[in-house]
Amino acid sequence: MPIIAVSNQKGGVGKTTSTLNLGAALREMGKRVLVVDLDPQGSLTVAAGILDVDDVRVSIGDLMIARAQGAPADVTEAIVTSPCGLELVPGNGMLSAAEITLAGAADREAVLTATLAPILDRYDYILIDCLPSLGLMAINALRAATGVVIPVQADFLAVQGLAQILETIGAVRGQLNPGLAIYGVLLTMVDGRKAHAQRVVATVRHSLKGQVPVFDTEIAQHVALKEAAEAGKTILAYQGGGSAAEMYRDLAREVARAAGDLSAQAEPRRRGVIADATRFLRGLTRSRGSLTGAAEAHGA
Ligand SMILES: Nc1ncnc2c1ncn2[C@@H]1O[C@H](COP(=O)(O)OP(=O)(O)OP(=O)(O)O)[C@@H](O)[C@H]1O
Ligand SMILES: [Mg+2]
Repeated sequence: MPIIAVSNQKGGVGKTTSTLNLGAALREMGKRVLVVDLDPQGSLTVAAGILDVDDVRVSIGDLMIARAQGAPADVTEAIVTSPCGLELVPGNGMLSAAEITLAGAADREAVLTATLAPILDRYDYILIDCLPSLGLMAINALRAATGVVIPVQADFLAVQGLAQILETIGAVRGQLNPGLAIYGVLLTMVDGRKAHAQRVVATVRHSLKGQVPVFDTEIAQHVALKEAAEAGKTILAYQGGGSAAEMYRDLAREVARAAGDLSAQAEPRRRGVIADATRFLRGLTRSRGSLTGAAEAHGA
């Protein structure tokens, strides 16, 4: 069963937005989905419609502290059906306390793995929204995961951090979780009208080619995604017929395929021939000319 860590130590690259909406799109495909908020900021919890993150009864931080102290609590106590409709294990400031407690625990990288173990058979997908760091909490997510989705903002500075997370994934594979896959790098907040964004997209695709998978689906800059989070809704509920929702549906199909979820491959495509043609044309513009120049400019 796929357990997906949505991770990048870089802040504000679209981890939380992607966790929520990818989760919603997988759910729309008929999958049983759980999302876990592993960020002390509690952004996923808020975006899922729970406004007071300190008011949650049991958070993932509480569970991890209990386990690290040798007195595991029942994870099902923490699962809530959030106002946005997704099943969620909420997160809040307790995660900061948890990270400190973990440091002294036995098997400290595997506390999240052990915490989630009792509920694996209840879900088809578990998505973990990671905090912007590669500390012990993020390592717990990479240890628990079957694969990683790495959102990268289409911005040159954001791309710089990519090497660091790829290195960390390599180290986790070597020491803790040999089967850890990279389901894909996800380009987010792509502003198709800006030449800079196009260059970054081209550079990422070019420099990772043949080494690290990059999803074909790109998440465009779209104000509806901000508005949906503010309203505590998924993009599918907020503007289900719009292009932002459609991007996450496309992503969900790609992620399912990358995760080896064969039942997802038979899903009918929602977009028809026109969308395919548009993508084909976009692909052409992308590959024509821009790749080499951008790659050279960034020393790739
Ligand atoms: N495709 C998009 N278009 C427009 N705004 C977006 C998009 N994706 C995310 N945002 C907005 O950008 C901000 C950062 O996104 P998000 O919270 O998902 O990033 P993050 O990587 O989870 O951040 P952090 O590292 O702080 O956890 C949010 O305000 C979010 O609503
Ligand atoms: Mg976040």
